[in-house]
Formats: sequence, C-alpha cells, structure tokens
Amino acid sequence: MLQDLKDHASVASRLELLGGPVKDGYHGITALVTGASKGLGRAYAVELARRGARVILLARSESDLRELAAHIREQHGGPDAEVIVADLAAADGPERILRELRDRGLTVDLLLNNAGMGSAGPFLGRPLQPQLGSVALNVGGLLALTHAIGAELVARGSGGIVNVSSTAAFQPMPYQASYAATKAFVLSFTEALAEELRGTGVHVMAAHPGPIATGFFDGTSATIHSVADAPATVAARTLDDYARRRAVSYPGRPVMRALNRAMTWTARLLPRRTVTRVTGAMNRRQGMHEVVDLA
Ligand SMILES: NC(=O)c1ccc[n+]([C@@H]2O[C@H](COP(=O)([O-])OP(=O)(O)OC[C@H]3O[C@@H](n4cnc5c(N)ncnc54)[C@H](OP(=O)(O)O)[C@@H]3O)[C@@H](O)[C@H]2O)c1
Repeated sequence: MLQDLKDHASVASRLELLGGPVKDGYHGITALVTGASKGLGRAYAVELARRGARVILLARSESDLRELAAHIREQHGGPDAEVIVADLAAADGPERILRELRDRGLTVDLLLNNAGMGSAGPFLGRPLQPQLGSVALNVGGLLALTHAIGAELVARGSGGIVNVSSTAAFQPMPYQASYAATKAFVLSFTEALAEELRGTGVHVMAAHPGPIATGFFDGTSATIHSVADAPATVAARTLDDYARRRAVSYPGRPVMRALNRAMTWTARLLPRRTVTRVTGAMNRRQGMHEVVDLA
C-alpha cells in the first residue's frame, strides 16, 4: 500500500514536475494499439501520442478510429496516426492486418494487445457465438499478432509487447466463465513468453486492470462495478509500468491497485473451490446470473 502511495504520481508526471522533457522511452516509437476505437484502447492511444509515440489504431469501427486519429493530430501534432480497420477475430483478420502493416511500410516497436470482449451471464443461458468470438479475439487474435510481430521484434533485438489481461485471470469466474478463462490464458501465455524472450532485448508485460469505466458490457443488462477506474488512469499507469520494465502491471488508482493486487494473491493462496464459490457469490450479488441482452 505504501509503495502504491509512493508510486501515485506517474513516472512521466514526476519527470515533468522536475522540469525536464518526458523521457520514458515512448518518444518516436511506433505503437500498434488493438481495440483503439473506444474504452481503454482509445485511452492507450491518446496517452501514447501524448508521450510522443506514433500510433497505429486498430479496430472494426472506422469512423471512431478516424475521429480519434484527427483528435490526436489536433492535440499532439507529430506524425499522423495510422488507421487499420480490421476484425481481429475473423479467421483471416490477423493475416490481413500484417499484410496491411507490410504494404504501408509500418514497423511496430510496441504491440499493445488490448482488444478484448467477454459476455456475462450463465454460460448455458447465453448465446454461444459471442463467447466463441471472445475466444477468437482475446486468445486467437492476440496469439497471431504476438507471433508475427514478436518475431520481428526479436530479430531487431528491441521493443516490446503489452498484453491486457485482467484481474479476472486469477480465478474461475462463475457467470463470466469463458471470459475469465480467456484472460487466464493471456496471463499464463504472457508470463511464459516473457521468460522465453528474457535477454533478447524485447520486453513482455501483462497488465491486469480491475473494473474500468468503459462500455465493456454495452448491449446487456450487466454493469461495470461502481469502484471502476477511469480508462485514462489505467492507460497512464500501464505505460509507466512498461517504461519501468515491470513484468506485470496492476494499473489503476493507488487504492484499486493495492486492492486488485491483494485479491489476486488471496485467490492464489486459498483453495480453488473456495475461491470459485466466493467469486460466484460476488457475481450473483452483482446480478451477473440474470444478465440479459438489452433490446
Ligand atoms: N472494462 C473493464 O472493466 C475491464 C477490466 C479488465 C480488463 N479489461 C480488458 O481491457 C481491454 C479493453 O476493454 P474495454 O473495457 O476498453 O472494452 P470496450 O470498451 O468494449 O472496447 C473494446 C475494443 O475492442 C475492439 N474490438 C472488439 N472486437 C474486435 C474485433 N473483433 N476486432 C478488432 N477489434 C475489436 C472494439 O472496437 P470495435 O468494436 O470498433 O471493433 C473496442 O475498440 C479488454 O481486453 C478487456 O478484456 C476490461
């Protein structure tokens, strides 16, 4: 907790307060942000641009991406933000994205695998297709981009990958069963890859935010927890942690970071059955067992 309070001011803010330019390794790099059209991905893109990075914005919603690119150009100047409109969950999505990067001569220094979706509600009572889509996006899309871009980074001996997981990764979550399982995959995969790439010059980090105030549950009756962090706070903190070469980030407000970290440790120490029951009870209290689609 004390450490969290000490860390409260971001690395960049403290450097700014000291009167010097922000030197946290983002200036002049090219960062590919998946899921940049809204929510946390949009906040990552804005924060990266603020720190001097050139951003490649990827999602399916073209108009939102173009609006964001214009906003970034207006606010931060510098090199234009690139827009790639693509469905990362489609069978040929990742290949098309990689071709697009090659055709435009874009070299990625930081891959920020942020795009993610997850359905809420009882597994058997909710449609299968969105859950399969969530696996394709959160797992398949992330793996494919990491495989191709990771190889290029290792060949150059620099750069990095940030995989956005979640505190949902640390325990089974009844009523968010398939979503939490995809995030457990991201956690395990990222830790293993970080070890494989140790010493290559390529830094790999997993980010585990708690609830964030985004439209993650839009279209359903599920709601984001009232203590949710603002996307901008989570984005800034993740980038600070990556700049410090942390292996793992629990981004958010200091109090939420401490709480989220403590909860993930509790989940690791208690019997798994107990953890699952408690999580199920908490999600029932949140009404997750009776989630429906909104008309
Ligand atoms: N919100 C939370 O409480 C929370 C907590 C912990 C972790 N997270 C994680 O944080 C990340 C961002 O979540 P968020 O809350 O910002 O969600 P969000 O507001 O729903 O945004 C999701 C982003 O992913 C993009 N996306 C969805 N399907 C896609 C596809 N098939 N291909 C390409 N892009 C796609 C969306 O853009 P288009 O629809 O335009 O494609 C959008 O930009 C996710 O990985 C999520 O699991 C969220």
